[in-house]
Amino acid sequence: MANHAHATGHERIETSNFLMIVLILVTVAIGGLVEIVPLFFQRSTTQPVPGLKPYEPLQLAGRDIYIREGCYNCHSQMIRPLQAETLRYGHYSVAGEFVYDHPFQWGSKRTGPDLQRVGGKYSDEWHRVHLNNPRDVVPESNMPSYPWLAKNAVDADVMPAKLTALRRLGVPYTEADISGAAAAVKDKTELDALVAYLQVLGTHVK
Ligand code: HEC
Repeated sequence: MANHAHATGHERIETSNFLMIVLILVTVAIGGLVEIVPLFFQRSTTQPVPGLKPYEPLQLAGRDIYIREGCYNCHSQMIRPLQAETLRYGHYSVAGEFVYDHPFQWGSKRTGPDLQRVGGKYSDEWHRVHLNNPRDVVPESNMPSYPWLAKNAVDADVMPAKLTALRRLGVPYTEADISGAAAAVKDKTELDALVAYLQVLGTHVK
């Protein structure tokens, strides 16, 4: 039997809960940093994919409605690089698609399908009918209806401030984009905005 009072070297670690816990934490922390820190500096994770454009004001307004309505509670925007996913949804998600997303909408729950590549999959009219009452186009759907979106106007006055805030986070909006942002959503409904957002999703990667 080992004499704990005089244990040395590895035996000392293995017989001390405290040392064991502390050294495990140190080891895991080093391993984690080695994996994560390089991603902050790697081009493929920090640079936009070729052709990626900042959201137009109407799309950006739609994105905020997507967040407000909690669509992310049922929909992910993150296609994993697995065959079952790419056959169903299309090209897997790459980090460079999300560099202008603050915050990103990857989600973690799929009650409904992933929406990363839904842009261009349906007509605008399909989305309008679907968002107003999903059962009108998908009889078995249990997605909620959002009938108020067609009645609410987009708040145009806040748009310049939204673009300015995003520019501060690195989204390359120009002065002209910002000064024209209110006019770009004038007389649009929340439904127009949300559909515009859905139609651009995932269209930058073919
Ligand atoms: C309670 C869960 C739930 C919520 C919340 C929800 N959805 Fe859905 N969604 C579903 C389900 C289930 C389906 C599949 C059936 C259907 O097409 O209606 C779906 C389908 C969709 C589709 C069609 C996707 C495809 O590829 O066919 C779109 C687009 C969509 N939802 C957008 C939205 C938007 C935008 C919101 C927020 C305004 C939202 N959903 C909120 C559950 C939800």
